Amino acid sequence: MQSWSTFVGDSGEFICIIGSVSKDGHLYQSLKETKCCVLNFPSYDICDKCVQTIKNNGFDDDEITLSGLTAEKAKTVNAPRIAECFLSIECEFLWEREHFEGSPNVTVALRATHICMDSDHYDQNKLGRYGKTGYMYNVHSPRNPETGEVTPDCFGALELYR
Ligand SMILES: Cc1cc2nc3c(=O)[nH]c(=O)nc-3n(C[C@H](O)[C@H](O)[C@H](O)COP(=O)(O)O)c2cc1C
Repeated sequence: MQSWSTFVGDSGEFICIIGSVSKDGHLYQSLKETKCCVLNFPSYDICDKCVQTIKNNGFDDDEITLSGLTAEKAKTVNAPRIAECFLSIECEFLWEREHFEGSPNVTVALRATHICMDSDHYDQNKLGRYGKTGYMYNVHSPRNPETGEVTPDCFGALELYR
């Protein structure tokens, strides 16, 4: 799932940077094995199901199906797309770098090989890509600047102003 990754480059060729991938997790293991993945963009209406993928996360779990979502074949890579997600970016692994020497987490760069988008989200006059029905942005562990109190993650929306 994607809600905070970074995308750089232009429309001809761009790369996706996943800021933090745990070396102990599934994603890292499957990237090592298959050298590919699919970034699936959920919208807020399926957020609860998506969060279940984090709970159904045993190494032998089919976390997509167990979470009530549908795995479908990607076009260019050997990794599942999630049918309910409105946008999917199929990617090939480029490189990884440890956050610092000995860190359990790495930053990963991927090259996009194919993009597919649901037509109702593609059309800004229908569900659209922006606003409450489009991209979700994860506001990770928001912290009260006065007290330091950390509150649960929140999801925000991207609004276009001009
Ligand atoms: C709604 C939602 C959005 C997510 N967005 C991202 C994201 O932008 N970047 C990311 O690295 N992981 C994101 N995750 C977490 C990944 O789906 C996944 O749990 C993570 O890559 C670790 O997978 P693993 O435990 O199978 O290795 C998101 C999860 C959910 C439920």
